[in-house]
Amino acid sequence: MPALVLIGAQWGDEGKGKATDQLGSSVDLVVKFNGGNNAGHTVVIGDETYALHLLPSGILSPGCTPVIGNGVVVDLSVLFEEIDGIEARGVSCERLVISADAHVIPSYNRTLDRVAERFLGNRKIGTTGRGIGPTYADKMNRIGIRVQDLLDEKILRQKVEGARAQKNHLLVKVYNRKAFTVDEVVEDLLQYVDRIRPMVRDTSLLLNEALDRGETVLLEGGQATLLDVDHGTYPFVTSSSATAGGACTGSGIGPRRVDKVIAVVKAYTTRVGEGPFPTELLDADGERLRNVGHEYGTTTGRPRRCGWYDAVIARYAARVNGVTDFVLTKLDVLTGWEQIPVCVAYEVDGKRLDEMPMTQTEFHHAVPEYEFFDGWTEDISAARTFEDLPKNAQDYVRALEGLSGAPFASIGVGPDREQTLELRPLV
Ligand code: IMP
Repeated sequence: MPALVLIGAQWGDEGKGKATDQLGSSVDLVVKFNGGNNAGHTVVIGDETYALHLLPSGILSPGCTPVIGNGVVVDLSVLFEEIDGIEARGVSCERLVISADAHVIPSYNRTLDRVAERFLGNRKIGTTGRGIGPTYADKMNRIGIRVQDLLDEKILRQKVEGARAQKNHLLVKVYNRKAFTVDEVVEDLLQYVDRIRPMVRDTSLLLNEALDRGETVLLEGGQATLLDVDHGTYPFVTSSSATAGGACTGSGIGPRRVDKVIAVVKAYTTRVGEGPFPTELLDADGERLRNVGHEYGTTTGRPRRCGWYDAVIARYAARVNGVTDFVLTKLDVLTGWEQIPVCVAYEVDGKRLDEMPMTQTEFHHAVPEYEFFDGWTEDISAARTFEDLPKNAQDYVRALEGLSGAPFASIGVGPDREQTLELRPLV
């Protein structure tokens, strides 16, 4: 059986948590391959709502092994807070495994993330302030601290010492903050060592062996295509590889193992943080999408910017990820609009563009060209098959599918596991 990749097609918050959770019962291992606790998954099971930030959503599926891959950056205090919170509700985390190669977020990087944003002024990124960017920067700079370093105090001390001069220089001389001592950072990290030790594994080996045995592995991406550090709306992006390619580097399996790339796409568009967003609605329609769709960040509580579906973005996501299947989410939020606009192309400096513009400047100037679809007023939250949908909703979905560059496998009509219309099987 195969490896499946699941990623977000837009700017995140497409409802990947629900999709992963649904697949979770049919897969043996769920791997988080990038990002950290900047992510936020809300999973609703019956009357229970779980907000996950760092733990892979497979944690909620009995029998499934959740894996934190090498591409993830781990805030240990958040990890254990989340484990304690979820175990207090009767969910066992004893199957969780963590890559020895994953980087940890030391406290100084949380400070640096926040002060750096303040110093950027109107060029700020709008980060989640969790230390994600500085920790990935340290990884590339080769001054990062990895999970495996915790297992050897002498090495840990050397690594923190290695980062200290650079980091304190920035903190003190550039940002006017307090310097840290090696002792305080080492002590802070070592308080978790006894708990993390049994979870630490060579996860690349573990995953490849599982695939050799015929088990199914789901590789879940945090954030989304347009937040990817290479393929997103740089510099208004996160610092990791959130597209399908990141699934291989972030987990240690080869590309030939991947059979399917599933992209989750919302029936409209949202983004948090700064940066261009062609179909953004700054009017009452945007407010209505935000309220009906509960578009507030799971991690930061920030109100999300809302706008219409952008088929140029969907096609771009299909291309850069090699999408085999789209999972459409939150169709129910669009109930009650007389007409629903869909962006089919952009106009940039008087020219029509059917594909994502090449440059940041062009994308900033992109004006959506809309096609309008008739809306529906019937409540669709109880629909369980495509045929249960009103004709206008069916036409809207089929139009999106035709414009988006890959077939739709399922449609979400509400937050619950059951509120999903399956069009073709994913596993
Ligand atoms: P960072 O990942 O905290 O460095 O933030 C960089 C950008 O990515 C900001 O615009 C964040 O709002 C955005 N971002 C990070 N994680 C998520 C997510 O899970 N959903 C949506 N946006 C995110």
